[in-house]
Amino acid sequence: MKPVEIKPDIFWVGAIDWGIRDFHGYITQNGTTYNNYLINDKQVTLVDTVKHDFDMVTIGNIRRIVDPSKVTNLVINHIEPDHASGIGTVMKYMPDATIYISEKGKKGLDRYCDTSRWTMKVVKNGDTLNTGRYTLTFLETPMLHWPDSMVTYVKEAKLLISQDAFGQHIATSSRFDDEFTECHSEFELNDAVVDYYANILMPFGQLIKSKIEEIVRLGIEIDMIAPDHGIIWRKDPGKIIRMYLDMAGGKAEQQVVIIYDTMWHSTELMTIPIMKGIKDEGVDCKVIKLRATPMSVAIKEFWRSRGCLVGTPTINNVMFPSVSEFLHHLGGLRPKNRIAGAFGSFGWGGGAVKEAYELLKHMGLEVVEPGVQVLYKPSVDDENQCYEFGRTFAQRVKEYNAKF
Ligand code: FEO
Repeated sequence: MKPVEIKPDIFWVGAIDWGIRDFHGYITQNGTTYNNYLINDKQVTLVDTVKHDFDMVTIGNIRRIVDPSKVTNLVINHIEPDHASGIGTVMKYMPDATIYISEKGKKGLDRYCDTSRWTMKVVKNGDTLNTGRYTLTFLETPMLHWPDSMVTYVKEAKLLISQDAFGQHIATSSRFDDEFTECHSEFELNDAVVDYYANILMPFGQLIKSKIEEIVRLGIEIDMIAPDHGIIWRKDPGKIIRMYLDMAGGKAEQQVVIIYDTMWHSTELMTIPIMKGIKDEGVDCKVIKLRATPMSVAIKEFWRSRGCLVGTPTINNVMFPSVSEFLHHLGGLRPKNRIAGAFGSFGWGGGAVKEAYELLKHMGLEVVEPGVQVLYKPSVDDENQCYEFGRTFAQRVKEYNAKF
């Protein structure tokens, strides 16, 4: 796709990755984009590169605007390879460019590639670079989501180039939020935002809140947010900031997701009366079987819901492998403000439900105990117990949700 002018003399020169479905294990069912931006000012400045598979795409886009050898400055907001692995090729076309990067970014880039022939200038929070008509301010955002991360604010354009923050994994020919929602829907866009936040930014809610508050304190005016993935927010950049503040503050739907796996359908059979009990309390419920669902979708649905019930058979005295993988991955995402419980079936010795509760409590989640365990296959009495557990859990979800 050819360059798109997003502000006077500022162009999107990135690449659309329509085919990617596995983004370091995160299933990107709608592909993604690698956005980078060219400021065609007195000092021509490129902000970020792209993934190495697309390095010649961005060089081709730059060429449509200016000879790449005329690029004076290259800003690297983030060194993760989906943005910075194209730097080797890109620098061949602009060998005299000075690279502006955070201290931790430089340390990381030195590990990823041979930087010995490049001129690099380490920048700190608040440092500026004047390119002619535009002034760029670098704002460090450490651990959002890597230690090196920073964003670049272009004052005269009121433009925040926000790196991974506020992004979405969507491959689309639309470059802007309003273009996208005209062809698709607001729901699709919001869903992509939640999916991205849950899988990448869930551990960093507090940092996100503090950084947004810092930006507000600095009185920075923003009328466009240009992330490094997905669409650019020009219609209502405040919307994505509000969504982030809501999610960081613990907002979730008053609903329950049952995330389970099963060996011989016993744990699966338990989901039916549990779901009925939840629904009879007026709470919506979604059921996800782990082996039939990408992990990233399970994580998104967990994040969307106030309550989560985990269903697992016992195998060799521990949880079923896919449930164990889910809970360990979830633990790493450091979830907050959610209420959880567990249930499952066993043959001779139990253990899985106890183990699930231990992990949920270790994450610091509110739990509803005890869960339900059934021997071999649910009897009518077991089904009644499951139904009552569903009702009790839904009541607790409503009480807990009222706190937010
Ligand atoms: Fe899109 Fe952290 O890279």
